[in-house]
Amino acid sequence: MLPANKLPETLLDLDAIRDQFPSLAETDNGSPRLYFDNPAGTQVSRRVVERMSECLLHGNANIGGYFKTSELAGALVDDARSAMADFFNAPSTDEVIFGQNMTSLTLHMSRSIGRYLKAGDEIVLSRMDHDANVEPWVLLARDHNLKIRWLPFDTDSFEFDLSIFDEILSERTRLVCVGGASNLTGTINDIKSICAKARDVGAWSYIDAVQSAPHIATDVQDLGCDFLVCSAYKFFGPHQGILWGRREVLEGLDPYKVRPAPKELPWCFEPGTQSHEGLVGTGAAVDYFAEIGAALAGTRAGTRREQIVTAFEHLFEYEKSLAAQLIAGLNDIPGIIVQGITSPDAFDRRVPTVSFTHSSQRPEVIAEALAGRNIFVWNGHNYGLEPAKALGLLESGGVVRIGIVHYNTSGEIDTTLNALEDILN
Ligand SMILES: Cc1ncc(COP(=O)(O)O)c(C=O)c1O
Repeated sequence: MLPANKLPETLLDLDAIRDQFPSLAETDNGSPRLYFDNPAGTQVSRRVVERMSECLLHGNANIGGYFKTSELAGALVDDARSAMADFFNAPSTDEVIFGQNMTSLTLHMSRSIGRYLKAGDEIVLSRMDHDANVEPWVLLARDHNLKIRWLPFDTDSFEFDLSIFDEILSERTRLVCVGGASNLTGTINDIKSICAKARDVGAWSYIDAVQSAPHIATDVQDLGCDFLVCSAYKFFGPHQGILWGRREVLEGLDPYKVRPAPKELPWCFEPGTQSHEGLVGTGAAVDYFAEIGAALAGTRAGTRREQIVTAFEHLFEYEKSLAAQLIAGLNDIPGIIVQGITSPDAFDRRVPTVSFTHSSQRPEVIAEALAGRNIFVWNGHNYGLEPAKALGLLESGGVVRIGIVHYNTSGEIDTTLNALEDILN
């Protein structure tokens, strides 16, 4: 087991990382805060806040004007777009579209996509997905008389059986909507194979990367998807949604826009005025990863994209070690059932979001008791309505979800496990 505040071998001192997040040092009546609510929203680094306030204090204007602040705001937006292009490994910045959050972007984009679908066309949705990648498509199907085909997951292995996916796909499949990682079970899905299979039948793929983006490097070119969407507030940035769309696909869509708005990509898909400060904060969150990667790679630092990839590789290794510690400890507490992958040799196929149930205590009782000890966790279905239903947990209050990110420590996991033992005794 790793010592409490050290990332594995080659890595940065975790204290230096934690120092960048002022909120991690907060206490309440002398009791430190343990942030395990990360899948719902992470803490924000100082650099993100500083860059956002600079934007608001010194570059606050609409873009496209001849005057100084407007030029500044335009440059800041361009910088943010190129940071996100690096984050996604997008071929071009024109394919990066900003919006309020993942849900709004998806509802908005579904309108444009819907115009290209005909009655009887089929959409594949998954029983593992967050409702933000389910209900927008269910509503679209209702409006356009589309047929929904459901991709189940195995409730023992918490993974998809892709042979079932093969059976569901048909020549009528037009769209496949699947999550990169589950916000409930933590499973990382084989998105690359799913996108390839969708493409083989001529369907587009729409990937919800909200829960994978904070933990593993996102590479839209390698995944071979057509759309991918995520939220910066899940990866240490501000409340901001970001969508990547394949240029050929976006160019063929009819954007829902007001008349004076630009016709060109990406602005045609960004209705109204954006939160420039949100965009700037998002770019700063990307740079946060790049800085970690640069420090790790030293003189071999490379491009920003390479730095981002280096950071994710190392941080995920550390996160996996914390998840292993947590899952082993949970398995030792009588009555606890981890609702997700628990086999250490499959930890590459899960993010460190660990949900569990208990044989006699309801999730809300456990979450409230943990909150009483300043340990912040979520309980319930967490908008993962389909997976909670599939696991038979909807009526019993869902799960308790402990969501780890790289600023968490081994010591925090120990404290949480001790608290659980105490509460459940
Ligand atoms: C997997 C997943 N998808 C989508 C969303 C919705 O994201 P947003 O709040 O940006 O709309 C969430 C939020 O928790 C999520 O976990």
